Amino acid sequence: MAEWWRDAVFYQVYVRSFADGNGDGFGDLPGITQHLDYLRDLGVDALWLTPFYPSPGVDHGYDVADYVDVDPLFGTLDDFDELVTQTHARGMRLIVDIVPNHTSDRHPWFTGDRSRYVTVPATGDEPPNNWPSNWGGPAWTLDEERNEWYLHLFAPEQPDLDWHNPLVRSDFEEILRFWLDRGVDGFRIDVAQALVKVADLRDEPAPRPAHGFSSDWRTATDQPEVHDVYRSWRRIADSYDGDRMFVGEIFFMEQDRVAPYLRPDELQLAFNFSLVFQPWDAEAMRASIEESLAKLPIVTWVLENHDVTRIVTRFGAREARAAALLLLALPGPVFVYQGQELGLEEVDLPDELRQDPVFHRSAGERKGRDGCRVPLPWTRALQSNAWLPQPHGWSELSVEAQTGDEHSMLELYRRALALRPGGGFEWRDVPGGALAFARDGLTCIVNVDADPIPVDNVVLASDELDGVLPRGTAAWLR
Ligand code: NOJ
Repeated sequence: MAEWWRDAVFYQVYVRSFADGNGDGFGDLPGITQHLDYLRDLGVDALWLTPFYPSPGVDHGYDVADYVDVDPLFGTLDDFDELVTQTHARGMRLIVDIVPNHTSDRHPWFTGDRSRYVTVPATGDEPPNNWPSNWGGPAWTLDEERNEWYLHLFAPEQPDLDWHNPLVRSDFEEILRFWLDRGVDGFRIDVAQALVKVADLRDEPAPRPAHGFSSDWRTATDQPEVHDVYRSWRRIADSYDGDRMFVGEIFFMEQDRVAPYLRPDELQLAFNFSLVFQPWDAEAMRASIEESLAKLPIVTWVLENHDVTRIVTRFGAREARAAALLLLALPGPVFVYQGQELGLEEVDLPDELRQDPVFHRSAGERKGRDGCRVPLPWTRALQSNAWLPQPHGWSELSVEAQTGDEHSMLELYRRALALRPGGGFEWRDVPGGALAFARDGLTCIVNVDADPIPVDNVVLASDELDGVLPRGTAAWLR
Protein backbone atom coordinates (compact mmCIF):
# COMPACT_ATOMS: atom_id res chain seq x y z
CA MET A 1 0.00 0.00 0.00
CA ALA A 2 1.28 3.48 -0.86
CA GLU A 3 2.43 5.58 2.06
CA TRP A 4 -0.41 7.65 3.51
CA TRP A 5 1.33 10.99 3.04
CA ARG A 6 1.74 10.65 -0.74
CA ASP A 7 -1.68 12.05 -1.44
CA ALA A 8 -2.68 13.45 1.94
CA VAL A 9 -4.40 16.72 2.71
CA PHE A 10 -2.68 18.21 5.76
CA TYR A 11 -4.50 20.81 7.82
CA GLN A 12 -2.20 23.25 9.56
CA VAL A 13 -3.29 24.04 13.11
CA TYR A 14 -1.76 27.24 14.44
CA VAL A 15 -2.33 26.12 18.01
CA ARG A 16 -2.54 29.56 19.60
CA SER A 17 -5.41 30.54 17.29
CA PHE A 18 -7.33 27.37 16.44
CA ALA A 19 -9.72 26.64 19.28
CA ASP A 20 -9.76 27.81 22.87
CA GLY A 21 -10.75 25.00 25.21
CA ASN A 22 -10.53 26.90 28.52
CA GLY A 23 -11.77 30.36 27.54
CA ASP A 24 -8.52 32.23 28.28
CA GLY A 25 -8.35 33.79 24.82
CA PHE A 26 -5.67 31.44 23.47
CA GLY A 27 -6.14 28.25 21.50
CA ASP A 28 -4.96 25.09 23.24
CA LEU A 29 -4.62 21.33 22.84
CA PRO A 30 -7.97 20.42 24.47
CA GLY A 31 -9.58 22.94 22.08
CA ILE A 32 -8.17 20.99 19.15
CA THR A 33 -9.41 17.69 20.56
CA GLN A 34 -12.89 19.18 20.93
CA HIS A 35 -12.91 20.12 17.24
CA LEU A 36 -11.54 16.92 15.72
CA ASP A 37 -14.96 15.98 14.39
CA TYR A 38 -14.98 19.25 12.46
CA LEU A 39 -11.65 18.31 10.84
CA ARG A 40 -12.76 14.76 10.11
CA ASP A 41 -15.98 16.03 8.53
CA LEU A 42 -14.05 18.59 6.54
CA GLY A 43 -12.22 15.63 5.05
CA VAL A 44 -8.58 16.24 5.87
CA ASP A 45 -6.17 13.36 6.39
CA ALA A 46 -3.67 14.81 8.80
CA LEU A 47 -3.04 17.65 11.21
CA TRP A 48 0.19 19.60 11.49
CA LEU A 49 0.48 21.33 14.86
CA THR A 50 2.68 24.42 15.11
CA PRO A 51 4.92 24.48 18.22
CA PHE A 52 3.13 24.02 21.55
CA TYR A 53 6.27 23.51 23.65
CA PRO A 54 7.19 25.65 26.66
CA SER A 55 8.28 28.95 25.22
CA PRO A 56 8.53 32.62 26.19
CA GLY A 57 6.52 33.19 22.99
CA VAL A 58 8.74 35.83 21.42
CA ASP A 59 8.08 34.12 18.07
CA HIS A 60 4.91 32.40 19.33
CA GLY A 61 6.49 29.04 19.97
CA TYR A 62 9.26 29.07 17.38
CA ASP A 63 11.46 29.91 20.36
CA VAL A 64 11.44 26.65 22.28
CA ALA A 65 12.61 26.50 25.89
CA ASP A 66 11.91 22.79 26.38
CA TYR A 67 11.47 20.36 23.49
CA VAL A 68 9.80 17.59 25.45
CA ASP A 69 6.88 19.21 27.22
CA VAL A 70 3.75 21.27 26.60
CA ASP A 71 3.50 24.97 27.42
CA PRO A 72 0.96 25.43 30.24
CA LEU A 73 -0.80 27.96 27.98
CA PHE A 74 -1.67 25.07 25.67
CA GLY A 75 -2.21 22.24 28.15
CA THR A 76 -0.26 19.24 29.39
CA LEU A 77 1.40 16.13 28.05
CA ASP A 78 -1.75 14.23 29.02
CA ASP A 79 -3.74 16.61 26.81
CA PHE A 80 -1.29 15.87 24.02
CA ASP A 81 -1.66 12.11 24.45
CA GLU A 82 -5.42 12.46 24.40
CA LEU A 83 -5.21 14.51 21.21
CA VAL A 84 -3.10 11.84 19.52
CA THR A 85 -5.47 9.09 20.62
CA GLN A 86 -8.57 10.95 19.48
CA THR A 87 -6.99 12.00 16.16
CA HIS A 88 -6.07 8.40 15.40
CA ALA A 89 -9.50 7.19 16.52
CA ARG A 90 -10.96 9.33 13.72
CA GLY A 91 -8.61 7.88 11.13
CA MET A 92 -6.45 10.98 10.88
CA ARG A 93 -2.71 11.44 11.43
CA LEU A 94 -0.87 14.02 13.44
CA ILE A 95 2.51 15.61 12.84
CA VAL A 96 4.29 18.09 15.08
CA ASP A 97 6.65 20.95 14.40
CA ILE A 98 10.29 20.52 15.32
CA VAL A 99 12.47 23.62 15.61
CA PRO A 100 16.09 22.45 15.40
CA ASN A 101 17.85 25.52 13.98
CA HIS A 102 17.49 27.63 17.10
CA THR A 103 16.12 27.51 20.63
CA SER A 104 14.75 30.19 22.90
CA ASP A 105 17.35 32.25 24.76
CA ARG A 106 15.58 30.91 27.88
CA HIS A 107 16.50 27.31 27.06
CA PRO A 108 18.79 25.87 29.77
CA TRP A 109 21.34 25.03 27.06
CA PHE A 110 21.64 28.77 26.42
CA THR A 111 21.37 30.09 29.96
CA GLY A 112 23.92 27.36 30.87
CA ASP A 113 27.33 26.82 29.32
CA ARG A 114 26.22 27.56 25.72
CA SER A 115 28.45 24.85 24.30
CA ARG A 116 25.66 23.85 21.93
CA TYR A 117 25.46 27.25 20.18
CA VAL A 118 27.31 29.16 17.52
CA THR A 119 29.32 31.66 19.57
CA VAL A 120 32.50 33.59 18.85
CA PRO A 121 34.71 35.33 21.45
CA ALA A 122 34.45 39.10 21.12
CA THR A 123 37.61 40.88 20.08
CA GLY A 124 36.14 44.27 19.26
CA ASP A 125 32.88 45.97 18.38
CA GLU A 126 32.47 44.30 15.01
CA PRO A 127 30.34 41.16 14.66
CA PRO A 128 32.24 38.06 13.48
CA ASN A 129 30.92 38.37 9.92
CA ASN A 130 28.43 40.19 7.70
CA TRP A 131 25.48 37.83 8.09
CA PRO A 132 22.13 39.60 8.42
CA SER A 133 19.21 38.32 10.45
CA ASN A 134 16.19 37.32 8.35
CA TRP A 135 14.19 39.93 10.19
CA GLY A 136 16.54 42.85 9.93
CA GLY A 137 19.75 43.89 11.68
CA PRO A 138 22.84 41.73 12.09
CA ALA A 139 22.55 38.01 12.79
CA TRP A 140 24.88 38.45 15.78
CA THR A 141 24.32 39.82 19.25
CA LEU A 142 27.11 40.64 21.65
CA ASP A 143 26.70 39.22 25.11
CA GLU A 144 28.74 41.70 27.06
CA GLU A 145 28.79 39.68 30.25
CA ARG A 146 30.27 36.64 28.53
CA ASN A 147 32.23 38.78 26.10
CA GLU A 148 31.06 36.71 23.14
CA TRP A 149 28.89 37.04 20.07
CA TYR A 150 26.11 34.57 19.45
CA LEU A 151 24.41 33.85 16.15
CA HIS A 152 20.68 34.19 15.47
CA LEU A 153 19.34 33.93 11.93
CA PHE A 154 16.03 35.17 13.38
CA ALA A 155 15.41 37.26 16.52
CA PRO A 156 18.12 37.70 19.19
CA GLU A 157 15.85 35.65 21.49
CA GLN A 158 16.34 32.71 19.07
CA PRO A 159 20.03 31.72 19.26
CA ASP A 160 21.21 29.27 16.59
CA LEU A 161 22.41 25.84 17.62
CA ASP A 162 25.78 24.53 16.44
CA TRP A 163 25.02 21.42 14.39
CA HIS A 164 28.72 20.62 14.12
CA ASN A 165 28.44 19.63 17.76
CA PRO A 166 27.60 15.91 18.14
CA LEU A 167 25.72 16.64 21.37
CA VAL A 168 23.16 18.68 19.44
CA ARG A 169 22.67 15.78 17.07
CA SER A 170 22.16 13.24 19.79
CA ASP A 171 19.86 15.54 21.76
CA PHE A 172 17.57 15.97 18.79
CA GLU A 173 17.54 12.27 18.06
CA GLU A 174 16.24 11.77 21.57
CA ILE A 175 13.67 14.51 21.09
CA LEU A 176 12.40 12.83 17.93
CA ARG A 177 12.12 9.52 19.78
CA PHE A 178 10.24 11.17 22.62
CA TRP A 179 7.45 12.29 20.27
CA LEU A 180 7.56 9.19 18.08
CA ASP A 181 7.10 7.10 21.22
CA ARG A 182 4.03 9.21 22.00
CA GLY A 183 2.57 8.24 18.66
CA VAL A 184 3.16 11.18 16.32
CA ASP A 185 3.08 10.34 12.63
CA GLY A 186 5.84 12.72 11.73
CA PHE A 187 7.45 16.12 11.91
CA ARG A 188 7.44 19.42 10.10
CA ILE A 189 11.01 20.71 10.24
CA ASP A 190 11.46 24.44 10.74
CA VAL A 191 14.01 26.14 8.40
CA ALA A 192 15.27 22.72 7.48
CA GLN A 193 18.03 23.86 5.10
CA ALA A 194 19.69 26.11 7.66
CA LEU A 195 20.75 23.88 10.56
CA VAL A 196 24.41 23.41 9.68
CA LYS A 197 26.34 26.64 9.09
CA VAL A 198 29.45 26.90 6.95
CA ALA A 199 32.22 25.82 9.33
CA ASP A 200 34.54 28.81 8.88
CA LEU A 201 31.69 31.34 9.29
CA ARG A 202 32.94 33.25 6.25
CA ASP A 203 31.27 36.43 5.01
CA GLU A 204 28.32 36.16 2.65
CA PRO A 205 28.91 37.50 -0.84
CA ALA A 206 27.62 41.03 -1.14
CA PRO A 207 25.60 42.78 -2.32
CA ARG A 208 22.45 40.88 -1.53
CA PRO A 209 20.31 40.39 -4.65
CA ALA A 210 17.11 42.42 -4.79
CA HIS A 211 14.97 39.32 -5.34
CA GLY A 212 14.96 36.00 -3.63
CA PHE A 213 15.11 34.93 -0.04
CA SER A 214 17.88 35.05 2.40
CA SER A 215 18.13 31.29 2.02
CA ASP A 216 18.75 31.62 -1.73
CA TRP A 217 21.49 34.02 -1.19
CA ARG A 218 23.14 32.57 1.85
CA THR A 219 26.27 30.54 1.37
CA ALA A 220 26.21 30.13 5.14
CA THR A 221 23.52 27.45 5.14
CA ASP A 222 22.42 24.55 2.89
CA GLN A 223 25.65 22.79 3.83
CA PRO A 224 26.37 19.19 2.77
CA GLU A 225 26.45 17.99 6.39
CA VAL A 226 22.77 18.77 6.91
CA HIS A 227 21.97 15.79 4.73
CA ASP A 228 23.71 13.48 7.23
CA VAL A 229 21.38 14.83 9.89
CA TYR A 230 18.32 13.94 7.83
CA ARG A 231 19.69 10.53 6.92
CA SER A 232 20.01 9.68 10.57
CA TRP A 233 16.57 11.13 11.37
CA ARG A 234 15.11 9.06 8.57
CA ARG A 235 16.65 5.88 9.98
CA ILE A 236 15.04 6.68 13.32
CA ALA A 237 11.61 7.30 11.81
CA ASP A 238 11.89 4.13 9.74
CA SER A 239 12.67 2.09 12.84
CA TYR A 240 9.11 2.80 14.06
CA ASP A 241 5.99 1.09 12.81
CA GLY A 242 3.64 2.94 10.49
CA ASP A 243 4.83 5.43 7.89
CA ARG A 244 6.38 8.11 10.08
CA MET A 245 7.42 11.03 7.95
CA PHE A 246 9.12 14.40 7.68
CA VAL A 247 8.18 17.50 5.76
CA GLY A 248 10.92 20.09 5.55
CA GLU A 249 10.38 23.81 5.43
CA ILE A 250 12.99 24.41 2.76
CA PHE A 251 13.02 27.86 1.29
CA PHE A 252 14.69 28.29 -2.08
CA MET A 253 13.35 29.99 -5.16
CA GLU A 254 15.17 27.40 -7.29
CA GLN A 255 13.48 24.04 -7.01
CA ASP A 256 16.68 22.21 -7.94
CA ARG A 257 18.05 23.14 -4.56
CA VAL A 258 15.17 21.46 -2.75
CA ALA A 259 15.47 18.13 -4.58
CA PRO A 260 18.56 16.82 -2.72
CA TYR A 261 16.60 16.93 0.55
CA LEU A 262 14.10 14.52 -0.96
CA ARG A 263 16.53 11.74 -1.77
CA PRO A 264 15.14 8.31 -0.87
CA ASP A 265 17.00 8.14 2.44
CA GLU A 266 16.23 11.72 3.54
CA LEU A 267 12.97 13.65 3.94
CA GLN A 268 9.80 12.33 2.38
CA LEU A 269 8.36 15.78 1.68
CA ALA A 270 9.30 19.43 1.49
CA PHE A 271 6.99 22.39 1.25
CA ASN A 272 6.81 23.73 -2.25
CA PHE A 273 6.28 27.44 -1.72
CA SER A 274 6.39 28.44 -5.38
CA LEU A 275 2.61 28.92 -5.69
CA VAL A 276 2.56 31.09 -2.59
CA PHE A 277 4.58 33.68 -4.45
CA GLN A 278 2.67 33.70 -7.73
CA PRO A 279 0.27 36.49 -8.56
CA TRP A 280 -3.24 35.67 -9.83
CA ASP A 281 -1.84 35.14 -13.30
CA ALA A 282 -2.39 32.03 -15.42
CA GLU A 283 1.03 32.02 -17.09
CA ALA A 284 2.88 32.50 -13.83
CA MET A 285 0.89 29.80 -12.04
CA ARG A 286 1.26 27.36 -14.89
CA ALA A 287 5.00 27.94 -15.07
CA SER A 288 5.28 27.43 -11.34
CA ILE A 289 3.32 24.17 -11.42
CA GLU A 290 5.30 22.91 -14.40
CA GLU A 291 8.63 23.72 -12.83
CA SER A 292 7.69 22.03 -9.59
CA LEU A 293 6.52 18.88 -11.33
CA ALA A 294 9.63 18.77 -13.50
CA LYS A 295 12.20 19.42 -10.80
CA LEU A 296 10.97 17.65 -7.69
CA PRO A 297 10.58 13.91 -7.11
CA ILE A 298 7.40 14.56 -5.12
CA VAL A 299 5.58 17.87 -5.08
CA THR A 300 3.50 19.38 -2.28
CA TRP A 301 1.13 22.31 -2.72
CA VAL A 302 0.66 25.29 -0.44
CA LEU A 303 -1.22 28.56 -0.86
CA GLU A 304 -1.34 29.77 2.74
CA ASN A 305 0.39 29.29 6.05
CA HIS A 306 0.99 31.24 9.24
CA ASP A 307 3.76 33.29 7.64
CA VAL A 308 2.04 34.69 4.55
CA THR A 309 -0.86 36.95 3.63
CA ARG A 310 -4.16 35.12 3.21
CA ILE A 311 -5.32 34.39 -0.35
CA VAL A 312 -8.60 36.29 -0.05
CA THR A 313 -6.44 39.37 0.43
CA ARG A 314 -3.83 38.39 -2.17
CA PHE A 315 -6.20 37.31 -4.92
CA GLY A 316 -9.71 38.52 -3.94
CA ALA A 317 -12.64 36.64 -2.40
CA ARG A 318 -13.96 35.18 -5.63
CA GLU A 319 -10.50 34.18 -6.81
CA ALA A 320 -9.76 32.51 -3.46
CA ARG A 321 -12.67 30.14 -4.15
CA ALA A 322 -11.28 29.35 -7.59
CA ALA A 323 -7.82 28.91 -6.08
CA ALA A 324 -9.27 26.31 -3.70
CA LEU A 325 -10.41 24.18 -6.63
CA LEU A 326 -7.03 24.59 -8.28
CA LEU A 327 -5.16 23.61 -5.11
CA LEU A 328 -7.29 20.58 -4.33
CA ALA A 329 -7.06 19.22 -7.87
CA LEU A 330 -3.26 19.23 -8.03
CA PRO A 331 -1.46 15.89 -7.70
CA GLY A 332 0.20 15.04 -4.39
CA PRO A 333 0.12 16.24 -0.79
CA VAL A 334 -1.67 19.52 -0.09
CA PHE A 335 -1.41 21.79 2.95
CA VAL A 336 -4.41 23.85 4.01
CA TYR A 337 -3.92 26.52 6.67
CA GLN A 338 -6.61 26.93 9.31
CA GLY A 339 -9.19 29.50 8.25
CA GLN A 340 -8.35 29.10 4.57
CA GLU A 341 -11.44 26.87 4.40
CA LEU A 342 -13.48 29.75 5.87
CA GLY A 343 -12.20 32.31 3.38
CA LEU A 344 -10.73 34.48 6.13
CA GLU A 345 -8.97 37.60 4.96
CA GLU A 346 -5.76 39.09 6.31
CA VAL A 347 -6.75 41.27 9.25
CA ASP A 348 -5.43 44.81 9.20
CA LEU A 349 -4.60 45.12 12.88
CA PRO A 350 -3.71 48.39 14.57
CA ASP A 351 0.03 48.66 15.09
CA GLU A 352 -0.27 48.66 18.88
CA LEU A 353 -1.76 45.16 18.76
CA ARG A 354 0.91 43.69 16.53
CA GLN A 355 3.11 41.12 18.22
CA ASP A 356 5.22 39.65 15.46
CA PRO A 357 8.97 40.27 15.96
CA VAL A 358 9.12 40.95 12.20
CA PHE A 359 7.04 44.10 12.80
CA HIS A 360 9.09 45.24 15.75
CA ARG A 361 12.52 44.43 14.34
CA SER A 362 11.77 46.27 11.11
CA ALA A 363 10.50 49.30 13.07
CA GLY A 364 7.08 48.77 11.54
CA GLU A 365 8.32 48.78 7.96
CA ARG A 366 7.17 45.17 7.54
CA LYS A 367 3.71 44.63 8.97
CA GLY A 368 4.52 41.07 9.94
CA ARG A 369 2.35 38.01 10.20
CA ASP A 370 -0.22 38.75 12.90
CA GLY A 371 -2.91 39.46 10.30
CA CYS A 372 -3.15 35.79 9.27
CA ARG A 373 -3.00 34.54 12.88
CA VAL A 374 -6.23 35.93 14.30
CA PRO A 375 -8.16 33.19 16.16
CA LEU A 376 -10.73 31.27 14.11
CA PRO A 377 -14.37 32.31 14.47
CA TRP A 378 -16.27 29.19 15.48
CA THR A 379 -19.58 30.82 16.32
CA ARG A 380 -21.49 33.90 15.22
CA ALA A 381 -20.91 35.25 18.71
CA LEU A 382 -17.26 36.25 18.41
CA GLN A 383 -14.80 35.66 21.22
CA SER A 384 -14.43 38.87 23.20
CA ASN A 385 -11.07 37.98 24.75
CA ALA A 386 -9.30 36.45 21.73
CA TRP A 387 -5.55 37.27 21.90
CA LEU A 388 -5.95 39.12 18.60
CA PRO A 389 -9.41 40.62 18.01
CA GLN A 390 -11.69 39.02 15.45
CA PRO A 391 -13.19 41.59 13.04
CA HIS A 392 -16.99 42.05 13.39
CA GLY A 393 -17.60 40.78 9.87
CA TRP A 394 -16.26 37.39 10.97
CA SER A 395 -19.58 36.44 12.55
CA GLU A 396 -20.82 35.61 9.07
CA LEU A 397 -17.58 33.79 8.28
CA SER A 398 -17.82 31.65 11.38
CA VAL A 399 -18.04 27.88 11.16
CA GLU A 400 -21.54 28.16 12.61
CA ALA A 401 -22.66 30.62 9.92
CA GLN A 402 -21.08 28.74 7.01
CA THR A 403 -22.10 25.21 7.95
CA GLY A 404 -24.91 24.04 5.70
CA ASP A 405 -24.81 27.15 3.51
CA GLU A 406 -24.12 25.65 0.10
CA HIS A 407 -22.66 28.93 -1.16
CA SER A 408 -20.13 29.17 1.63
CA MET A 409 -16.39 28.67 1.29
CA LEU A 410 -16.55 26.01 3.99
CA GLU A 411 -19.02 23.89 2.04
CA LEU A 412 -16.96 24.38 -1.12
CA TYR A 413 -13.92 22.99 0.69
CA ARG A 414 -15.95 20.11 2.09
CA ARG A 415 -17.26 19.15 -1.32
CA ALA A 416 -13.90 19.56 -3.00
CA LEU A 417 -12.16 17.45 -0.37
CA ALA A 418 -14.76 14.74 -0.81
CA LEU A 419 -14.38 14.75 -4.60
CA ARG A 420 -10.63 15.33 -4.75
CA PRO A 421 -9.31 13.56 -7.84
CA GLY A 422 -6.41 11.09 -7.94
CA GLY A 423 -4.32 9.61 -10.70
CA GLY A 424 -2.11 11.21 -13.33
CA PHE A 425 -1.78 14.78 -14.47
CA GLU A 426 -2.03 16.20 -17.96
CA TRP A 427 -2.35 19.79 -19.15
CA ARG A 428 -5.33 20.57 -21.37
CA ASP A 429 -5.47 23.31 -24.00
CA VAL A 430 -7.44 26.38 -22.98
CA PRO A 431 -7.42 30.04 -24.04
CA GLY A 432 -4.65 32.29 -22.68
CA GLY A 433 -5.53 33.59 -19.25
CA ALA A 434 -6.91 30.19 -18.19
CA LEU A 435 -5.46 26.93 -16.87
CA ALA A 436 -6.74 23.41 -17.29
CA PHE A 437 -5.50 19.96 -16.48
CA ALA A 438 -6.94 16.49 -16.33
CA ARG A 439 -6.61 13.94 -13.55
CA ASP A 440 -8.34 10.55 -13.41
CA GLY A 441 -11.65 11.25 -15.15
CA LEU A 442 -11.81 14.84 -13.94
CA THR A 443 -10.70 18.09 -15.53
CA CYS A 444 -9.93 21.18 -13.47
CA ILE A 445 -10.34 24.42 -15.34
CA VAL A 446 -9.52 27.82 -13.90
CA ASN A 447 -10.49 31.01 -15.68
CA VAL A 448 -7.96 33.39 -14.24
CA ASP A 449 -8.62 36.44 -16.40
CA ALA A 450 -9.82 35.20 -19.79
CA ASP A 451 -13.17 35.83 -21.51
CA PRO A 452 -15.94 33.51 -20.31
CA ILE A 453 -15.26 29.88 -21.28
CA PRO A 454 -18.13 27.51 -22.20
CA VAL A 455 -18.21 24.46 -19.89
CA ASP A 456 -20.43 21.42 -19.42
CA ASN A 457 -20.53 18.30 -17.23
CA VAL A 458 -19.70 20.42 -14.23
CA VAL A 459 -19.17 18.39 -11.07
CA LEU A 460 -18.16 21.27 -8.82
CA ALA A 461 -17.77 24.99 -9.43
CA SER A 462 -16.40 27.84 -7.36
CA ASP A 463 -19.45 29.98 -8.23
CA GLU A 464 -22.85 29.52 -9.81
CA LEU A 465 -22.35 29.02 -13.53
CA ASP A 466 -24.62 29.59 -16.45
CA GLY A 467 -23.00 27.41 -19.10
CA VAL A 468 -19.84 29.50 -19.03
CA LEU A 469 -16.95 29.96 -16.64
CA PRO A 470 -16.43 33.68 -15.99
CA ARG A 471 -13.08 35.15 -15.03
CA GLY A 472 -12.04 34.51 -11.45
CA THR A 473 -13.86 31.18 -11.25
CA ALA A 474 -12.95 27.50 -11.56
CA ALA A 475 -14.75 24.23 -12.11
CA TRP A 476 -14.17 20.52 -12.04
CA LEU A 477 -15.66 18.80 -15.08
CA ARG A 478 -16.40 15.14 -15.66
C1 NOJ B 1 9.58 29.46 9.95
C2 NOJ B 1 8.29 29.52 10.71
O1 NOJ B 1 7.25 29.12 9.85
C3 NOJ B 1 8.14 30.93 11.19
O2 NOJ B 1 6.86 31.17 11.73
C4 NOJ B 1 9.23 31.20 12.19
O3 NOJ B 1 9.15 32.54 12.61
C5 NOJ B 1 10.61 30.95 11.59
N1 NOJ B 1 10.67 29.72 10.86
C6 NOJ B 1 11.66 30.91 12.67
O4 NOJ B 1 11.49 29.77 13.46
